[in-house]
Amino acid sequence: MASPQRPSPLQGGFSARRLISIDDLSDSDIAFLLDLTEHYAGFLKRAEPAPPRLAGKTQINLFFEDSTRTNLSFDLAGKKLGADVVNVPVNASSVHKGESLVDTAQTLAAMSADVMIVRAKEPGLHETLDQLLSCVIVNGGDGVKEHPTQALLDAAAIRSSFGAIEDLTIAICGDVKHSRVAGSDARLFSRLGATVRFVGPAHLMPGDDLLPDIERHYNLRDGLEAADVVMGLRMQFERMDDGGRDAAQGYFDEFGLTHQTIKFAKPGAKIMHPGPMNRGVEIDGALADDKERSLILRQVFYGVAARMAALDALLTS
Ligand code: CP
Repeated sequence: MASPQRPSPLQGGFSARRLISIDDLSDSDIAFLLDLTEHYAGFLKRAEPAPPRLAGKTQINLFFEDSTRTNLSFDLAGKKLGADVVNVPVNASSVHKGESLVDTAQTLAAMSADVMIVRAKEPGLHETLDQLLSCVIVNGGDGVKEHPTQALLDAAAIRSSFGAIEDLTIAICGDVKHSRVAGSDARLFSRLGATVRFVGPAHLMPGDDLLPDIERHYNLRDGLEAADVVMGLRMQFERMDDGGRDAAQGYFDEFGLTHQTIKFAKPGAKIMHPGPMNRGVEIDGALADDKERSLILRQVFYGVAARMAALDALLTS
């Protein structure tokens, strides 16, 4: 639903009208969103209510794939800004009577939605919905392609730790091939001036046509050398042809992130992981829980703030 613009709490402009890919954002949109994320992180840190800038707006969270972090942080983000938030119970919906995903989304949009957060693996669904529906479409994860708000929250967490992303070396390690986070992170971190590397075994690397400018390393020692940040990725068994039966065989010995292997990176390098983690598969639990090293729960914290920023910017600019 169209609504009058509301002045932003921050200086600067925001022009994007959807958030399906990091490429939907201009450089100034990205800078604006990261500053607005920090603005909302301040409210969360102070346990202070944020202004109800989305009062009167309707936000629909439509998750056709499982989610804990993304779904619930969008839920919290919308509520903290005063939106009416509906979480669609997909497993008890008419999808199970055969209604198509597009018909489901059109039906929900007709309930006066202003924004719809969609997670689905169907290729092109987000683009189709953006063409068909008048509400703002936000990608909450689309198969193996993109997860743009994860990249924004990851960038915000890194910036809060290092002060800036420019000139950092960020190693994204593990099952890059089946990861939508890797693609969005690599796009965003590169645009913010970081050197980004993909690190993992050849069978878990994407085809050469995907992000060809990103360095690729096939052993952990080389890939982590001089890295400031090491981003572990979940082994995504559910996306593997054979259900991932053999994918974890020997993987931890060669590519597992541990207190020992993190020494290949810079002293004091930070460990990140978008979650959910497979402890003992791609990352050792002791490293994940190391408060000096790990930004993993900081990522979760910034998930709420980054989604508040994205919703505010998309709905009030
Ligand atoms: N990182 C992430 O997308 O987690 P969820 O699948 O729990 O949303």
